[in-house]
Amino acid sequence: MNVVLGVSGGIAAYKACELLRRFTESGHSVRVVPTASALNFVGAPTWAALSGNPVSTEVWDSVHEVPHVRIGQHADLLVIAPATADLLARAAHGIADDLLTNTLLTVRCPVVFAPAMHTEMWEHPATQENVATLRRRGALVIEPAVGRLTGADTGKGRFPEPEGVFEFCRRVLARGADAGLADLAGRRVVVSAGGTREPLDPVRFLGNLSSGRQGYALASVAAARGARVTLVAAHTELPDPAGVDLVRVGTAQEMHDAVLAAAADADAVVMAAAVADFRPADYAASKIKKVDGVEPEPLALVRNPDILARISQQRVRTGQVVVGFAAETDDALVNGRAKLARKGCDLLVVNEVGAGRAFGTSDNEAVILGADGTETLVPFGPKTALADLLWDLVATRIG
Ligand code: CTP
Repeated sequence: MNVVLGVSGGIAAYKACELLRRFTESGHSVRVVPTASALNFVGAPTWAALSGNPVSTEVWDSVHEVPHVRIGQHADLLVIAPATADLLARAAHGIADDLLTNTLLTVRCPVVFAPAMHTEMWEHPATQENVATLRRRGALVIEPAVGRLTGADTGKGRFPEPEGVFEFCRRVLARGADAGLADLAGRRVVVSAGGTREPLDPVRFLGNLSSGRQGYALASVAAARGARVTLVAAHTELPDPAGVDLVRVGTAQEMHDAVLAAAADADAVVMAAAVADFRPADYAASKIKKVDGVEPEPLALVRNPDILARISQQRVRTGQVVVGFAAETDDALVNGRAKLARKGCDLLVVNEVGAGRAFGTSDNEAVILGADGTETLVPFGPKTALADLLWDLVATRIG
Protein backbone atom coordinates (compact mmCIF):
# COMPACT_ATOMS: atom_id res chain seq x y z
CA MET A 1 0.00 0.00 0.00
CA ASN A 2 1.05 3.62 -0.52
CA VAL A 3 1.29 5.56 2.71
CA VAL A 4 1.98 9.27 2.99
CA LEU A 5 3.53 10.12 6.35
CA GLY A 6 3.13 13.80 7.16
CA VAL A 7 5.34 15.06 9.96
CA SER A 8 4.78 18.44 11.59
CA GLY A 9 7.11 20.36 13.86
CA GLY A 10 6.93 18.80 17.30
CA ILE A 11 9.54 16.99 19.39
CA ALA A 12 7.64 13.72 18.82
CA ALA A 13 8.90 13.85 15.20
CA TYR A 14 11.67 11.50 16.33
CA LYS A 15 9.03 8.88 17.21
CA ALA A 16 7.72 9.10 13.64
CA CYS A 17 11.02 7.52 12.51
CA GLU A 18 10.00 4.36 14.35
CA LEU A 19 6.51 4.55 12.87
CA LEU A 20 8.03 4.90 9.39
CA ARG A 21 10.24 1.88 9.98
CA ARG A 22 7.22 -0.22 10.95
CA PHE A 23 5.41 0.73 7.75
CA THR A 24 8.38 -0.06 5.50
CA GLU A 25 9.14 -3.32 7.32
CA SER A 26 5.57 -4.46 6.69
CA GLY A 27 6.01 -3.87 2.99
CA HIS A 28 4.32 -0.49 2.56
CA SER A 29 5.79 2.18 0.32
CA VAL A 30 6.05 5.41 2.32
CA ARG A 31 6.45 8.95 1.10
CA VAL A 32 7.40 11.30 3.94
CA VAL A 33 6.19 14.88 3.71
CA PRO A 34 7.57 16.91 6.61
CA THR A 35 6.75 20.55 7.29
CA ALA A 36 9.67 22.99 7.30
CA SER A 37 9.57 23.18 11.08
CA ALA A 38 9.57 19.36 11.39
CA LEU A 39 13.03 19.48 9.81
CA ASN A 40 14.26 21.39 12.88
CA PHE A 41 13.72 18.14 14.82
CA VAL A 42 14.61 15.44 12.28
CA GLY A 43 16.47 16.27 9.06
CA ALA A 44 15.46 15.42 5.49
CA PRO A 45 18.32 12.89 5.00
CA THR A 46 16.90 10.74 7.82
CA TRP A 47 13.46 10.65 6.21
CA ALA A 48 14.91 9.97 2.75
CA ALA A 49 17.17 7.18 3.99
CA LEU A 50 14.49 5.48 6.08
CA SER A 51 11.79 5.71 3.41
CA GLY A 52 13.92 5.25 0.29
CA ASN A 53 11.91 8.05 -1.30
CA PRO A 54 12.62 11.72 -2.03
CA VAL A 55 11.59 14.23 0.61
CA SER A 56 10.34 17.75 0.09
CA THR A 57 8.46 20.26 2.16
CA GLU A 58 7.43 22.78 -0.47
CA VAL A 59 5.35 22.63 -3.64
CA TRP A 60 8.21 24.33 -5.51
CA ASP A 61 10.45 21.25 -5.64
CA SER A 62 10.15 19.08 -8.80
CA VAL A 63 7.28 21.25 -10.03
CA HIS A 64 7.12 19.38 -13.35
CA GLU A 65 5.82 16.35 -11.42
CA VAL A 66 3.03 18.43 -9.82
CA PRO A 67 3.85 16.85 -6.45
CA HIS A 68 1.04 18.54 -4.49
CA VAL A 69 -1.48 16.57 -6.55
CA ARG A 70 0.54 13.48 -7.51
CA ILE A 71 1.48 12.44 -3.95
CA GLY A 72 -2.12 12.48 -2.76
CA GLN A 73 -3.54 10.74 -5.83
CA HIS A 74 -1.57 7.55 -5.18
CA ALA A 75 -2.10 7.41 -1.42
CA ASP A 76 -4.04 4.66 0.35
CA LEU A 77 -3.54 6.39 3.70
CA LEU A 78 -2.32 9.80 4.85
CA VAL A 79 -1.15 9.80 8.45
CA ILE A 80 0.16 12.93 10.12
CA ALA A 81 2.33 12.05 13.08
CA PRO A 82 2.91 14.09 15.08
CA ALA A 83 0.20 16.61 14.29
CA THR A 84 0.87 19.93 16.05
CA ALA A 85 -1.81 22.43 17.11
CA ASP A 86 -0.73 24.61 14.18
CA LEU A 87 -1.03 21.78 11.66
CA LEU A 88 -4.50 20.85 12.99
CA ALA A 89 -5.55 24.49 12.65
CA ARG A 90 -4.29 24.75 9.08
CA ALA A 91 -5.97 21.44 8.17
CA ALA A 92 -9.28 22.45 9.74
CA HIS A 93 -9.30 25.71 7.80
CA GLY A 94 -8.16 24.29 4.49
CA ILE A 95 -5.03 26.44 4.42
CA ALA A 96 -2.54 25.10 1.88
CA ASP A 97 0.79 26.86 2.33
CA ASP A 98 3.21 23.97 2.05
CA LEU A 99 3.38 20.53 0.45
CA LEU A 100 1.77 18.69 3.37
CA THR A 101 -1.27 20.97 3.66
CA ASN A 102 -1.69 20.92 -0.13
CA THR A 103 -1.62 17.13 -0.02
CA LEU A 104 -4.29 17.18 2.70
CA LEU A 105 -6.62 18.87 0.23
CA THR A 106 -5.89 16.56 -2.68
CA VAL A 107 -6.07 13.13 -1.01
CA ARG A 108 -9.27 11.10 -1.18
CA CYS A 109 -7.99 8.27 1.05
CA PRO A 110 -8.52 7.96 4.83
CA VAL A 111 -6.67 10.61 6.86
CA VAL A 112 -5.33 9.93 10.36
CA PHE A 113 -3.97 12.65 12.65
CA ALA A 114 -1.86 11.69 15.68
CA PRO A 115 -1.70 14.93 17.67
CA ALA A 116 1.05 15.58 20.22
CA MET A 117 1.44 18.81 22.18
CA HIS A 118 1.35 20.24 25.67
CA THR A 119 -1.87 19.68 27.60
CA GLU A 120 -2.76 23.39 27.57
CA MET A 121 -2.52 23.53 23.78
CA TRP A 122 -4.55 20.32 23.37
CA GLU A 123 -7.27 21.53 25.72
CA HIS A 124 -7.46 25.01 24.21
CA PRO A 125 -10.93 25.60 22.68
CA ALA A 126 -9.30 26.54 19.37
CA THR A 127 -7.60 23.14 19.12
CA GLN A 128 -10.66 21.26 20.35
CA GLU A 129 -12.87 22.99 17.78
CA ASN A 130 -10.38 22.23 15.01
CA VAL A 131 -10.30 18.56 16.05
CA ALA A 132 -14.11 18.44 16.09
CA THR A 133 -14.20 19.99 12.60
CA LEU A 134 -11.73 17.45 11.23
CA ARG A 135 -13.64 14.56 12.80
CA ARG A 136 -16.92 15.84 11.43
CA ARG A 137 -15.38 15.75 7.96
CA GLY A 138 -14.44 12.09 8.40
CA ALA A 139 -10.80 12.36 9.50
CA LEU A 140 -9.63 10.06 12.29
CA VAL A 141 -7.96 12.00 15.09
CA ILE A 142 -6.19 9.76 17.59
CA GLU A 143 -6.66 10.90 21.18
CA PRO A 144 -3.20 11.73 22.59
CA ALA A 145 -1.92 9.59 25.44
CA VAL A 146 -1.56 10.75 29.02
CA GLY A 147 1.96 10.78 30.40
CA ARG A 148 5.30 12.47 30.46
CA LEU A 149 5.55 15.46 28.11
CA THR A 150 8.69 17.32 27.01
CA GLY A 151 10.37 18.58 30.16
CA ALA A 152 9.18 17.69 33.63
CA ASP A 153 5.43 18.02 33.15
CA THR A 154 2.88 15.26 32.61
CA GLY A 155 -0.64 15.29 31.23
CA LYS A 156 -2.68 14.55 28.13
CA GLY A 157 -0.91 15.38 24.90
CA ARG A 158 1.78 12.75 24.67
CA PHE A 159 2.37 11.01 21.34
CA PRO A 160 1.19 7.40 21.78
CA GLU A 161 3.72 4.58 21.43
CA PRO A 162 4.61 4.28 17.69
CA GLU A 163 3.53 0.63 17.78
CA GLY A 164 0.03 1.70 18.86
CA VAL A 165 -0.18 4.34 16.11
CA PHE A 166 1.00 1.75 13.59
CA GLU A 167 -1.67 -0.74 14.74
CA PHE A 168 -4.29 1.98 14.47
CA CYS A 169 -3.19 2.76 10.89
CA ARG A 170 -3.06 -0.93 10.02
CA ARG A 171 -6.71 -1.31 11.02
CA VAL A 172 -7.67 1.74 8.97
CA LEU A 173 -5.78 0.37 5.95
CA ALA A 174 -7.43 -3.03 6.43
CA ARG A 175 -10.87 -1.43 6.22
CA GLY A 176 -9.86 0.34 3.03
CA ALA A 177 -11.74 3.31 1.66
CA ASP A 178 -15.08 1.91 2.92
CA ALA A 179 -17.85 4.46 3.00
CA GLY A 180 -18.40 3.57 6.64
CA LEU A 181 -14.77 3.96 7.62
CA ALA A 182 -15.51 6.29 10.54
CA ASP A 183 -18.99 4.88 11.11
CA LEU A 184 -18.60 5.11 14.88
CA ALA A 185 -17.60 8.80 14.75
CA GLY A 186 -19.39 10.75 17.46
CA ARG A 187 -20.11 7.55 19.43
CA ARG A 188 -18.78 6.99 22.94
CA VAL A 189 -18.10 3.40 23.89
CA VAL A 190 -16.78 1.65 26.99
CA VAL A 191 -14.84 -1.60 26.76
CA SER A 192 -13.59 -3.64 29.72
CA ALA A 193 -10.67 -6.00 29.31
CA GLY A 194 -8.24 -8.25 31.15
CA GLY A 195 -8.57 -10.28 34.32
CA THR A 196 -9.41 -8.79 37.70
CA ARG A 197 -7.27 -9.67 40.71
CA GLU A 198 -8.76 -10.10 44.16
CA PRO A 199 -6.11 -9.64 46.85
CA LEU A 200 -5.72 -12.08 49.73
CA ASP A 201 -2.79 -10.33 51.34
CA PRO A 202 -0.18 -7.79 50.13
CA VAL A 203 1.51 -10.35 47.84
CA ARG A 204 -1.23 -12.83 46.82
CA PHE A 205 -4.45 -12.64 44.84
CA LEU A 206 -7.13 -14.73 43.14
CA GLY A 207 -6.85 -14.17 39.40
CA ASN A 208 -7.59 -15.74 36.04
CA LEU A 209 -5.94 -16.45 32.71
CA SER A 210 -7.52 -13.66 30.65
CA SER A 211 -4.91 -12.05 28.38
CA GLY A 212 -6.98 -8.95 27.61
CA ARG A 213 -6.50 -9.50 23.86
CA GLN A 214 -10.17 -9.57 22.87
CA GLY A 215 -10.99 -6.43 24.85
CA TYR A 216 -7.93 -4.59 23.50
CA ALA A 217 -8.87 -5.60 19.95
CA LEU A 218 -12.40 -4.28 20.52
CA ALA A 219 -11.07 -0.99 21.87
CA SER A 220 -8.57 -0.38 19.09
CA VAL A 221 -10.98 -1.38 16.33
CA ALA A 222 -13.63 0.99 17.74
CA ALA A 223 -11.06 3.82 17.87
CA ALA A 224 -10.05 3.14 14.26
CA ARG A 225 -13.73 3.41 13.32
CA GLY A 226 -13.91 6.85 14.90
CA ALA A 227 -15.41 6.12 18.35
CA ARG A 228 -14.30 7.81 21.56
CA VAL A 229 -13.25 4.81 23.59
CA THR A 230 -12.79 4.36 27.32
CA LEU A 231 -10.90 1.14 27.96
CA VAL A 232 -11.22 -0.09 31.53
CA ALA A 233 -8.34 -2.51 31.84
CA ALA A 234 -7.71 -5.01 34.61
CA HIS A 235 -4.53 -7.11 34.54
CA THR A 236 -2.98 -7.57 31.09
CA GLU A 237 0.53 -7.43 29.69
CA LEU A 238 -0.44 -5.84 26.39
CA PRO A 239 0.97 -2.48 25.26
CA ASP A 240 -1.35 0.53 25.54
CA PRO A 241 -3.47 0.88 22.41
CA ALA A 242 -3.33 4.28 20.69
CA GLY A 243 -6.28 6.64 20.72
CA VAL A 244 -8.22 5.30 23.69
CA ASP A 245 -8.71 6.69 27.20
CA LEU A 246 -7.20 4.02 29.39
CA VAL A 247 -8.43 3.51 32.97
CA ARG A 248 -6.45 0.91 34.90
CA VAL A 249 -8.15 -1.09 37.63
CA GLY A 250 -7.22 -4.05 39.82
CA THR A 251 -10.26 -5.61 41.49
CA ALA A 252 -13.81 -6.36 40.33
CA GLN A 253 -15.10 -3.61 42.63
CA GLU A 254 -12.72 -1.07 41.05
CA MET A 255 -13.82 -2.23 37.62
CA HIS A 256 -17.46 -1.88 38.67
CA ASP A 257 -16.91 1.73 39.76
CA ALA A 258 -14.89 2.68 36.65
CA VAL A 259 -17.29 1.02 34.17
CA LEU A 260 -20.38 2.55 35.79
CA ALA A 261 -18.82 6.01 35.77
CA ALA A 262 -17.79 5.75 32.11
CA ALA A 263 -21.12 4.17 31.08
CA ALA A 264 -23.07 7.25 32.17
CA ASP A 265 -22.78 8.90 28.75
CA ALA A 266 -21.85 5.89 26.60
CA ASP A 267 -23.69 4.63 23.53
CA ALA A 268 -22.38 1.10 24.09
CA VAL A 269 -20.72 -0.89 26.86
CA VAL A 270 -18.87 -4.10 26.06
CA MET A 271 -17.85 -6.27 29.00
CA ALA A 272 -14.97 -8.34 27.63
CA ALA A 273 -13.14 -8.49 30.96
CA ALA A 274 -12.90 -11.67 32.97
CA VAL A 275 -14.35 -10.37 36.22
CA ALA A 276 -13.92 -12.47 39.34
CA ASP A 277 -17.33 -13.61 40.57
CA PHE A 278 -16.00 -13.90 44.14
CA ARG A 279 -13.41 -12.20 46.31
CA PRO A 280 -11.83 -13.30 49.59
CA ALA A 281 -14.11 -12.35 52.48
CA ASP A 282 -11.12 -11.03 54.41
CA TYR A 283 -7.99 -9.22 53.36
CA ALA A 284 -4.92 -9.87 55.52
CA ALA A 285 -3.00 -6.61 55.88
CA SER A 286 0.17 -8.62 56.59
CA LYS A 287 1.43 -11.56 54.59
CA ILE A 288 -0.29 -14.82 55.57
CA LYS A 289 2.33 -17.12 57.11
CA LYS A 290 2.29 -20.88 57.15
CA VAL A 291 2.69 -22.56 60.52
CA ASP A 292 4.24 -26.01 60.57
CA GLY A 293 1.80 -28.69 61.67
CA VAL A 294 -1.27 -26.41 61.37
CA GLU A 295 -3.73 -26.91 58.49
CA PRO A 296 -4.83 -23.68 56.76
CA GLU A 297 -8.32 -22.31 57.28
CA PRO A 298 -10.62 -22.80 54.25
CA LEU A 299 -10.84 -19.67 52.16
CA ALA A 300 -14.10 -17.79 52.70
CA LEU A 301 -15.39 -15.97 49.61
CA VAL A 302 -18.07 -13.35 49.01
CA ARG A 303 -19.84 -12.38 45.76
CA ASN A 304 -18.66 -9.45 43.68
CA PRO A 305 -21.23 -7.18 42.01
CA ASP A 306 -22.27 -8.39 38.55
CA ILE A 307 -21.30 -5.38 36.44
CA LEU A 308 -22.87 -6.63 33.22
CA ALA A 309 -26.22 -7.37 34.89
CA ARG A 310 -26.21 -4.03 36.69
CA ILE A 311 -25.43 -2.01 33.53
CA SER A 312 -28.07 -3.94 31.58
CA GLN A 313 -30.74 -3.42 34.20
CA GLN A 314 -30.13 0.25 34.95
CA ARG A 315 -29.79 1.62 31.43
CA VAL A 316 -28.70 5.17 32.08
CA ARG A 317 -29.36 6.19 28.52
CA THR A 318 -32.10 4.96 26.23
CA GLY A 319 -30.74 3.20 23.18
CA GLN A 320 -27.53 2.19 24.97
CA VAL A 321 -26.29 -1.19 23.75
CA VAL A 322 -24.84 -3.59 26.32
CA VAL A 323 -22.72 -6.57 25.32
CA GLY A 324 -21.45 -9.45 27.44
CA PHE A 325 -19.08 -12.34 26.87
CA ALA A 326 -19.50 -15.91 27.98
CA ALA A 327 -16.88 -18.63 27.98
CA GLU A 328 -18.58 -22.01 28.08
CA THR A 329 -17.19 -25.53 28.13
CA ASP A 330 -20.47 -27.45 27.58
CA ASP A 331 -23.80 -26.78 25.82
CA ALA A 332 -22.46 -23.38 24.76
CA LEU A 333 -25.56 -22.13 22.96
CA VAL A 334 -28.12 -23.31 25.51
CA ASN A 335 -26.09 -21.88 28.39
CA GLY A 336 -25.43 -18.74 26.37
CA ARG A 337 -29.15 -18.09 25.74
CA ALA A 338 -29.92 -18.56 29.43
CA LYS A 339 -27.09 -16.23 30.40
CA LEU A 340 -28.23 -13.55 27.92
CA ALA A 341 -31.70 -13.60 29.45
CA ARG A 342 -30.39 -13.66 33.02
CA LYS A 343 -28.05 -10.71 32.51
CA GLY A 344 -30.47 -8.70 30.39
CA CYS A 345 -27.86 -7.58 27.85
CA ASP A 346 -28.52 -6.97 24.13
CA LEU A 347 -25.77 -9.17 22.72
CA LEU A 348 -23.75 -12.02 24.18
CA VAL A 349 -20.59 -13.31 22.55
CA VAL A 350 -20.34 -17.02 23.33
CA ASN A 351 -16.94 -18.69 23.11
CA GLU A 352 -16.48 -22.37 23.52
CA VAL A 353 -13.31 -22.70 25.60
CA GLY A 354 -10.79 -25.49 25.74
CA ALA A 355 -8.53 -27.02 23.07
CA GLY A 356 -6.35 -23.88 22.88
CA ARG A 357 -9.24 -21.58 22.03
CA ALA A 358 -10.15 -18.18 23.47
CA PHE A 359 -7.72 -17.65 26.37
CA GLY A 360 -4.37 -16.14 25.51
CA THR A 361 -4.55 -16.70 21.76
CA SER A 362 -4.91 -14.11 18.99
CA ASP A 363 -7.61 -16.11 17.24
CA ASN A 364 -11.14 -16.74 18.26
CA GLU A 365 -14.33 -18.45 17.11
CA ALA A 366 -17.69 -17.52 18.55
CA VAL A 367 -21.43 -17.14 18.17
CA ILE A 368 -22.99 -13.77 18.93
CA LEU A 369 -26.48 -14.15 20.37
CA GLY A 370 -28.92 -11.25 20.19
CA ALA A 371 -31.74 -10.58 22.66
CA ASP A 372 -33.90 -10.26 19.53
CA GLY A 373 -33.28 -13.96 18.78
CA THR A 374 -30.51 -13.48 16.22
CA GLU A 375 -27.49 -15.77 16.05
CA THR A 376 -24.35 -14.62 14.21
CA LEU A 377 -21.53 -17.07 13.64
CA VAL A 378 -18.01 -15.62 13.86
CA PRO A 379 -15.71 -17.99 11.97
CA PHE A 380 -12.30 -18.90 13.41
CA GLY A 381 -10.05 -15.90 12.85
CA PRO A 382 -8.26 -12.96 14.46
CA LYS A 383 -9.82 -11.27 17.48
CA THR A 384 -9.85 -8.04 15.45
CA ALA A 385 -12.22 -9.69 12.94
CA LEU A 386 -14.58 -10.63 15.76
CA ALA A 387 -14.28 -7.04 16.99
CA ASP A 388 -15.24 -5.61 13.60
CA LEU A 389 -18.24 -7.90 13.33
CA LEU A 390 -19.38 -7.12 16.86
CA TRP A 391 -19.16 -3.36 16.26
CA ASP A 392 -21.22 -3.86 13.06
CA LEU A 393 -23.95 -5.48 15.17
CA VAL A 394 -23.67 -2.83 17.90
CA ALA A 395 -23.76 0.06 15.40
CA THR A 396 -27.10 -1.08 13.96
CA ARG A 397 -28.61 -1.33 17.47
CA ILE A 398 -27.56 1.99 18.99
CA GLY A 399 -30.77 3.98 19.38
N1 CTP B 1 -19.23 -10.11 34.42
C1 CTP B 1 -19.47 -8.93 35.09
N2 CTP B 1 -19.35 -8.87 36.44
C2 CTP B 1 -19.05 -9.98 37.14
C3 CTP B 1 -18.82 -11.20 36.48
C4 CTP B 1 -18.91 -11.22 35.10
O1 CTP B 1 -19.76 -7.93 34.45
N3 CTP B 1 -18.94 -9.91 38.47
C5 CTP B 1 -19.38 -10.14 32.95
C6 CTP B 1 -18.16 -10.52 32.18
O2 CTP B 1 -17.38 -9.39 31.81
C7 CTP B 1 -18.76 -11.21 30.96
C8 CTP B 1 -19.96 -11.90 31.53
O3 CTP B 1 -20.33 -11.15 32.68
O4 CTP B 1 -19.18 -10.27 29.99
C9 CTP B 1 -19.67 -13.31 31.90
O5 CTP B 1 -20.69 -13.83 32.66
P1 CTP B 1 -20.41 -14.70 33.96
O6 CTP B 1 -21.70 -14.85 34.67
O7 CTP B 1 -19.25 -14.23 34.73
O8 CTP B 1 -19.91 -15.98 33.33
P2 CTP B 1 -19.45 -17.17 34.16
O9 CTP B 1 -18.72 -16.74 35.39
O10 CTP B 1 -18.76 -18.03 33.19
O11 CTP B 1 -20.88 -17.66 34.60
P3 CTP B 1 -21.29 -19.01 35.23
O12 CTP B 1 -20.40 -19.16 36.39
O13 CTP B 1 -22.72 -18.73 35.59
O14 CTP B 1 -21.11 -19.97 34.12
